[in-house]
Amino acid sequence: MSGAENYLPRDRTISALAAAARCCRGCPLYQAATQTVFGEGPSTAALMLVGEQPDDRADRTGHPFAGPAGALLHRALDDAGIDLDRIYRTNAVKHFTFTRHIGGKRRIRQWPSRTEVVSCRPWLLAEIEALRPQVIVCLGATAAQSLYGTAFRITTHRGEVLRLPRDIASTARCTTRVVATVHPSAVLRDRDEVRRRNAYDAFVADLRGARNLIP
Ligand code: URA
Ligand code: SF4
Repeated sequence: MSGAENYLPRDRTISALAAAARCCRGCPLYQAATQTVFGEGPSTAALMLVGEQPDDRADRTGHPFAGPAGALLHRALDDAGIDLDRIYRTNAVKHFTFTRHIGGKRRIRQWPSRTEVVSCRPWLLAEIEALRPQVIVCLGATAAQSLYGTAFRITTHRGEVLRLPRDIASTARCTTRVVATVHPSAVLRDRDEVRRRNAYDAFVADLRGARNLIP
């Protein structure tokens, strides 16, 4: 187990990557999770969304953004004028990571560790290389830090139009631009209704800004 690198197939199409990722043992997360949740969407997509990791529902169904954060994301995409079926959706980490209270049944989501994010990064880079999207939207710090490193702060760079780090862009041979915004679960978490509505509007504005980068 020294990262996903050893599990990448020779054929780097999205469908070959997705098939190979099913058998990834690049870090310990495959052991407790139900299945690998790989990216989904057309391989011609101009826009790629990168979330954090599958949640409970994504883990059970095998589809990214299948749970409550996904429902909010889908609504926000719609409000931003982005057609879900035309974009590619993936996560920085492809297996669900969770803990349980002692004796409890409920699976409580955990943050993936930096080691897990780095272990899983080859899949994300291979997806970027296969798709060469015009725009990537990083949903939250985990996604952004997978590409830019741990010093990256959403609070500082939110909504800015960024370039992919040079090494990634040159390997993938693309000129992709990147917008970082919050994770949809952060919008859901705010208990104050006014703040939550403002957070939602700001999230939609970031998505709309990303969409407007596509000619
Ligand atoms: N949150 C994510 O970041 N990704 C998912 O797939 C589900 C929830
Ligand atoms: Fe492989 Fe990523 Fe799953 Fe770890 S989280 S086993 S690196 S697919």
